[in-house]
Amino acid sequence: MSDALKVLTSSTDPNLLVSFDTADDAAVYRLTPEIALVSTVDFITPPVDDPYWFGQIAAANSLSDVYAMGGKPLTALNLIMFPSKILDKIILKEILRGGHDKVIEAGASMCGGHSVDDNEPKYGLAVTGVVHPEKILTNSGAQEGDVLILTKPLGTGVLFNANKSKKLPYRELELILPQVASLNKNALAVALGYDIHACTDVTGFGLAGHTLEIAKGSRKQINLFYKEIPFYPNARAMYQKGETTGSNKANRKILDGYMEIEAKISRREEELLFDPQTSGGLIFSVPGSQAGELIMKLKQAGIEAAAQVGEVVSNAKPCIRII
Ligand code: CO
Ligand code: CO
Ligand code: CO
Repeated sequence: MSDALKVLTSSTDPNLLVSFDTADDAAVYRLTPEIALVSTVDFITPPVDDPYWFGQIAAANSLSDVYAMGGKPLTALNLIMFPSKILDKIILKEILRGGHDKVIEAGASMCGGHSVDDNEPKYGLAVTGVVHPEKILTNSGAQEGDVLILTKPLGTGVLFNANKSKKLPYRELELILPQVASLNKNALAVALGYDIHACTDVTGFGLAGHTLEIAKGSRKQINLFYKEIPFYPNARAMYQKGETTGSNKANRKILDGYMEIEAKISRREEELLFDPQTSGGLIFSVPGSQAGELIMKLKQAGIEAAAQVGEVVSNAKPCIRII
């Protein structure tokens, strides 16, 4: 989408603190010296057949962009596309119930929305939140000596696809859905006690793509430690079996000229770095000296997958190195 947005002129309003020109997660607009609005919208096609899980995952995915900016969601509006002549209304209700439950869990209010008839269901939220204008988390502040901490495993893209193509039984996929649908709320709450220099959530561009956004935004080199990266069960096995996603090729292309792979890994193991995430975790860039304690606190808060997956080093040319 960033290419298509290039033709639009960016706003010169000084209160618009973050907009699309830095590839950030949400727009941030300063209302007063203490309060800025965080606005974001997202919707997805069903990653799973179960409508209640679909609703929860889509809502968690939409809310995540507010957390990725360091914000607190306040209100949410439903965006729903639904084939009302083909599918039973009960399915629609279950999707909305899933979304509603996540919005309540986020401590925000569900305030309505808009629906359109469409051949394939799509669902998500427009979310409005708040953040202190001086405490906005962006892609741009990573510093030399920082480490990167990731809060959820990777692999949702290939696992959802493998389930659709019947290579992965639903009972296997089901096991990871609570973690996929979990909010990034607690991870952010814990991390706010530390010096977060940069933050984003891992979504459609995969770990490599979103890490590159931090590298570019911060003008740094980022080394990713392949062996330390957490993957969901079966994700690696599915790529080994030749399963992939419709986004892997494009996601690999984003890294053209920016990525070097030094780790001894196979082409199929590389694919995990490009796996598109739905409702993925947050990446925090924090000083190396705080990493151990932060990871411990994240685990104590139930974020078991929290791991140190990389380090920030100075380099005139932003790039990613897989070591
Ligand atoms: Co995002
Ligand atoms: Co988004
Ligand atoms: Co951000």
